[in-house]
Parts: sequence; C-alpha cells; structure tokens
Amino acid sequence: MNLKDQTIDLISRVLKMDPVAVSEIVETPPQPELGDLALPCFRFAKQEHKAPPLIAQDLARQISAQANHLAKVEAKGPYVNFFYDRAAYASSIFQAAQAQPDRFIGHLCDPARADQVVLVEYSSPNIAKPFHVGHGFSTILGDAIAKLYAYQGYIVKRLNHLGDYGTQFGRLIYAWLAWGDEKALEEEPIKELTRVYVKFHQLAEDKPEMYDAARDHFRRLELGEELEYKLWERFRKLSLQEFARIYDRLNIAFDSYNGESFYSDKMPAVVDLLRAQGLLVESQGAQVVMLDEYHLTPCIILKSDGSSIYATRDITAIFYRAKTWDYYRNVYIVGKEQTHHFQQVFAVLDKLGHPKAGKNYHVAFGRLSFGDQDFSTRSGKVILLEDFLDETVKRVSEIMDEGGFDLADQKDAIAEAIGVAAVKFIYLRAGREHDIAFSWDEMLDFAGDTAPYLLYAYARAQSVLRKAGVTQEELAQAKTELLTEDTEFQVLKSLAQLEQASIDAVEAYEPSILTRQIISLVRDYSRFYQSVSILRAEDPDLRLARLALCSLFASQLKLALSLLGIEVVERM
Ligand code: ARG
Repeated sequence: MNLKDQTIDLISRVLKMDPVAVSEIVETPPQPELGDLALPCFRFAKQEHKAPPLIAQDLARQISAQANHLAKVEAKGPYVNFFYDRAAYASSIFQAAQAQPDRFIGHLCDPARADQVVLVEYSSPNIAKPFHVGHGFSTILGDAIAKLYAYQGYIVKRLNHLGDYGTQFGRLIYAWLAWGDEKALEEEPIKELTRVYVKFHQLAEDKPEMYDAARDHFRRLELGEELEYKLWERFRKLSLQEFARIYDRLNIAFDSYNGESFYSDKMPAVVDLLRAQGLLVESQGAQVVMLDEYHLTPCIILKSDGSSIYATRDITAIFYRAKTWDYYRNVYIVGKEQTHHFQQVFAVLDKLGHPKAGKNYHVAFGRLSFGDQDFSTRSGKVILLEDFLDETVKRVSEIMDEGGFDLADQKDAIAEAIGVAAVKFIYLRAGREHDIAFSWDEMLDFAGDTAPYLLYAYARAQSVLRKAGVTQEELAQAKTELLTEDTEFQVLKSLAQLEQASIDAVEAYEPSILTRQIISLVRDYSRFYQSVSILRAEDPDLRLARLALCSLFASQLKLALSLLGIEVVERM
C-alpha cells in the first residue's frame, strides 16, 4: 500500500469512515509547506458541534499518535496536513514500480473490463477528398483515447467510418468520365479526383442539367451497375492507399474500415422500424423524426427523392455495432461542428428505446488554425496533414543542423520521429474543445511545453544511464530511501500522479489531462537534474539511487507518452 492509501486508511479508522469516502475528501495541498496530503475539516463541524480548527487539532493529535509512516501531522487552521516520511515514500514508490514495471505506479486494473468492449470511432476521412489537418485532430486524439482505454483493460475496437457513400459520388463519377486523367489518377489519386470534382461544381453552376446526370450515376451506383460500381471501388481503393501512407507514418491502425457504404443495404430495415413505430412523419416531402421534446430540429431520415442521408447511416451503424459487439461504450471522435448531428442521432435512438441509447458519446474537438503562419500547401485552402508533417520534419531537421547534431546516419529517422511527435502533441496538449492557434516557434521550442522538450528530457536521462553504465540488476538494488531532497521527493510525487491522470483522462475523454501531468513531471525532473549531481555524486549509494530515479523517470515517461501515441527517441 502506498503512503497516500496508508494515510487515508489511518484517517478512516480514526474517523470511523469508509476509506473511499475519505479519499474523496482529502486534497493535495497547493504548496509543499502545507504537506503532502490535507484533510479539510469543515464538513465535520455540524455533527461535532465544534469549529473546524478545533476539530483539526483534535484529529491531528489522534492521528499522529498512530502514524509511523508520516514525518509530521499538523493542524493548520481548518485543515490537518500530513507530511510523508520521505525515505519511506521513496521506497514505497520504487517497490510499487518494481511490482509492475510496465504500468503506472499504483495501477490497478479492474478485471471486469476484460469483457467490456469500447468502440472508438476516429479519423473517418472522406474518400476522394484531401486528408486535412482537421482529420489529423480526430486521428491523433482518437488514437490516444483508444490507447488510454486499452491501458485501462477494456477491449477496444478502432473503427474508421469512412465517408464513402452519398450523392456526391454521382458527381465525382460524372466528372471523372468527363475530364479524368488516367496517369494523374495513378500518381496522385486524391489530387486528381479533387481536381475534376471542383471542375464539376464550377461548370454545373451554369448547367444545372449536370446535376441530373450525376444523380443518375448515383442511382446506378446504388443499383450496383458495373460502370459506376467499378469506378467507385477504384476511387475507394486508391484513396485508402493514400490514407494508409499517413496512418503508417503516424503508426496508427484500425480494426475496421466499414464506412458509410457498408450500411447502405442495412438502412431499409432501420427505416422500416422507424416507420413501424410511428416515428416517421412527412415534412416538405422528406421523411423525418420529430425531436421537439429534445429541443432539436427534426432529423431527416429520407430526402424527398427517397435517398438516405448521413444521419440515416449513423443510426444504422449503431444498430449494427450493438448487434456485433454488445458494446459498453461507443465513442465518436468528431469535430464540434457536428455536435448537433450527433445529438439528433442519439435522440432518435432514444426515441426508439434502443438498448444502447445512452451508451453513445460524441467526443468533440476544436479547430487548428494557422493564421498567418508561414506555410506552403499543395492544395489551396485546406492544409493537408501530410504537408503539415513534412514541413514540421523539415524544420526539426534544420534545428538539428543548427544545434550541431552528431549522429549523422540517424538524423533523418530522428528528425522524422521528433516531427511526428511534435505534430501529435499539438493536438493533445490543450483541452480538446479549444481551438488551437498554431505557431511554429512555439511548437518547436525545445524548452517549452512541446514534444521536443519532453523527448529531449527522455533522451538526456537515457544518456546519463548509458554514461553510468549501470545494469537493471544494479539499479534494482539501489538504496532508494536516500532520495529525500526536495527535488527528488517532488519527482517521485509527480510520478505517482500519472496513474490518476490516466484514469481521469479516459473518463473525461481528455488526453490533455495526462499530457499536463507529463509536462509537470518533466519540469520536476529537469529541476532535479539541474540541482543535484547524479554521475558525480560523492556517495556511491546516493549516485546509484539517483540513477535509479533517472531510470524510473525514463520508463514511466516512455509509457505515458506511448499512451498518447508518441514514441520516444533514445538519442537526440
Ligand atoms: N467523414 C466525416 C467527415 O470527414 C466524418 C465522419 C464522422 N463519423 C460519423 N460516424 N459520422 O467530416
């Protein structure tokens, strides 16, 4: 049991209260002078008929009589402050870490989760359309959320709900047949498809009959007519090949690429059900579900021409997913501009009394804006994720040149790793619903709250360990109770907070909660690293103990970053 739990246990015995209830009351004091844990006594005033400061004094006296793992128990105003015995604290942290080296300190996995399926739907780009920085947000945030869930022991299914269906494909087929260039399609499929698609819209403005022809292509596609189906299939395949290049680079994979088209033949059954339950009403020729009681506008199910829409496919997908996985949660990582859409979809499920209504979550995120940041893009207005990655890697490489990097043969690989990490970190650093005003200087500041800063701290810790030439066996024997200096104690406390941060991050669908804890850990470690001698510590026991701290820091940082989808580099 760690010192926090021991203290909570002690408090609960003295107060005759449930430990869980105590753990909800205790606080981490804002300043170290106020101890390592604090118990506010306001809430006991009523039943005890005493002022909180008097209660605090009383409790401090009773508790300190029994606390040998605590250095000091002190009443301060209405609080009881607890000061851990630092030597005992250090030992307990290392013991806990050794008990499960590839987990966070104090990690407990609820075995019940091994039967609970969490679906995380993310990325979901549209085929034949550019993969832009907005899809980057969903892809990177979603990957982190999926990894955080998996770490907590859930069965996670990663779903990519491709936008591969809809009337726009009729237009694309029209446009391709009219102006498509075979060679360009082979070379840069999405670029070529975008080119003809844009041209369609430019010309159709003056020639509305083009829309009718396009609608006919889509109708034929739905019927599975060979010409249309083959083209659509080819566009889909080529687009997926391009997306795969990006996913490989980000080291992200999916369990399913069932996109919107997958649900097309499953929609009629759902429409029938809605109709049978009397939920479909006609409105201006369309079939809709009224959602007044949810304070939402009606959800269109079938347009006046009888074709389905985006929402119909999302509703159908929930039916399919519920049947296939009997899921615990179904989580959508999609921009906040689609909030209303998901509210409608979930409300329709609720109205239907679907058993999984209430188990679907829209995890929204903001926008990444480049303002007037210098950027060369290949495709006009939208910024492609690939261009963003390329440009970042290029700039990292330049910074490495300026800094006199000496591992020339590994330079490209390291620049790529740092660049990818830097891009990912941008999406994970702040609360996800905030819009991000992007800046190059800030993103690549090796001393700021950035991926390069974190990776550098990791590489530096590894380099100290290499220089020391100690083995894991030697480190395991270290007298870690010697780590009682302020900065050492602070690093240990920070390490112990990763576990709770990872839990809070998953519950709030907010990887930034873990990100912030990582940043404060690395700040604490840097203070330790700068203020004490490690390799040159005079006492060999102390030297070894400090090396053990470097090693624990490095392994926990690597684990924490890996849950965000960020890979470390051993040297930089
Ligand atoms: N394809 C859509 C887009 O690019 C995102 C799909 C989101 N997922 C969903 N189930 N509707 O905007």
